[in-house]
Amino acid sequence: MSAAETRSEEITPPQDLVDTRLVLWYFVAACVFLLISMLGGILMALQLVHWNPLAGLELFSPGRWRMIHTNAVAYGFLANAFLGALHWAVPRLTMHRVASQALSYFIFLAWQAIVLLTAAGVVLGPSFQDQAWVAEASRNLGISMSLGAQGLEWGETPFWIDPVALLGLLLVAVNFMVPIAKAKGPLYVTLWYFMAAFVWTFLTYAMGNLLPEYTVAGTSAGAIGGLFIHDLVGLFVTPLGWGLMYYFVPIMLQRPIWSHGLSLVGFWGLAFFYPLQGIHHFLYTPIPMFLQHGAIISTIAVELVVTTVVINFFGTLWGQGRAFVDNLPIRWFYTGMIYYFLTCLQCSMQVTLTFQKLIHFTDWVVGHAHLVMFGVFSMWLFGVMTYLIPRLLNRPWYSHKLCEWHFWLSAAGVLVMASDLILAGVFQGYFWAALQPWDVSVVASQPFWITRVFAGLAMFGGFLCFLYNFWMTWSARSHV
Ligand code: HEM
Repeated sequence: MSAAETRSEEITPPQDLVDTRLVLWYFVAACVFLLISMLGGILMALQLVHWNPLAGLELFSPGRWRMIHTNAVAYGFLANAFLGALHWAVPRLTMHRVASQALSYFIFLAWQAIVLLTAAGVVLGPSFQDQAWVAEASRNLGISMSLGAQGLEWGETPFWIDPVALLGLLLVAVNFMVPIAKAKGPLYVTLWYFMAAFVWTFLTYAMGNLLPEYTVAGTSAGAIGGLFIHDLVGLFVTPLGWGLMYYFVPIMLQRPIWSHGLSLVGFWGLAFFYPLQGIHHFLYTPIPMFLQHGAIISTIAVELVVTTVVINFFGTLWGQGRAFVDNLPIRWFYTGMIYYFLTCLQCSMQVTLTFQKLIHFTDWVVGHAHLVMFGVFSMWLFGVMTYLIPRLLNRPWYSHKLCEWHFWLSAAGVLVMASDLILAGVFQGYFWAALQPWDVSVVASQPFWITRVFAGLAMFGGFLCFLYNFWMTWSARSHV
């Protein structure tokens, strides 16, 4: 680790502010779910190149595993890793403990149960639905009910878990808002982002899981579904991610953020433009065109906002470029920021109607999704874990080399996967525009899908390096 990181220890607040064991357990849970998710992703990728090793096993059918892949990543990996990092950052920023340590442990256990029950709902869904009493209860209550997964993208959590998940989100907010409310002096921008995320995540979850299920239908449900999937990224993952960057980067570089003013532009820009974008997932649909145009304009506007945030972070790094090479967590963070800028630039182009004509429903979108979810937010969280795990365990990493392998396999793997799928999307778009039969585009996609398998295996290999390193550091064997 670099000198800057070592110096940061000098300003460390008292240890009992943070429950390090809980932070560690959140990271362990996050890793378990990422492992499951990546296996699901690899299974899906193998299915698409006809190499599915589990073909014929209904419970492991690709349709189910696609949902396990996305749900385990969002609610299992990202949410757990963020909660772990919040338990570290909030008490240290506010100098107050979370409202209740017991509540923290309760939330930890309840959240794992929610994610596991969702997985059960996804895997066993149809058999749940076949139960006669469920059908009868649905009829009696006048709503369509299923104990299995809901048919909502990213909102697959079974309907009976939704209220519990919402209660969990409320408790998370209370647990962290208490120390924030007790903090003295002006609130640092990280806490602005965190507070916003607590409110927005609750509202987003409620909107996306309840409204399309019970109240609205047709294009209105589509519009709300689009807003939900976009806001999950923009109002749950993004504010927590940037909040952590505003916290960790100045600590590691031992200097304040370059411009406090620009950080506020970034925060308010996100708050204003992000919630207007959801319909850009459903361009060229029967949703009124004025709404589609509004979503396009606000998507392009958010790219300008993102640029100010990225400039602010590179301004902070200015003069200390060496940290990008020497300091591994900083390298994770800034590589993620470069991918963030690229993914938002890509978004501001793909959102135009001209581009949409070509790439709508193609693998371009899947490439974009991996670049943002893995290339940005997972990279940031790996950086946070790389920085925190030695501090949580009170010993250096077992192997620095394995940390490097983790970084390079992840950074290169996701770059190859995203570029490969983005290019595949362009080809698929042209095949469809030329009115070629669907099968022709599927055959032409094979080389791209084979490349995706190997890129995915590289990312998975990097993660296995991390897991092994984590395990060896924990069990404190001899150092390399
Ligand atoms: C082992 C590496 C991975 C492989 C092989 C892989 C593969 C896949 C496949 C085959 C799909 C379905 C694409 C389709 O329906 O056509 C998918 C979807 C998705 N994956 Fe992964 N994935 C991997 C890792 C990840 C990670 C780590 C994340 C997030 C951190 C992630 C996020 C997503 C998202 C968000 C989608 C949905 C994309 C969409 O609906 O447009 N994947 N992945």
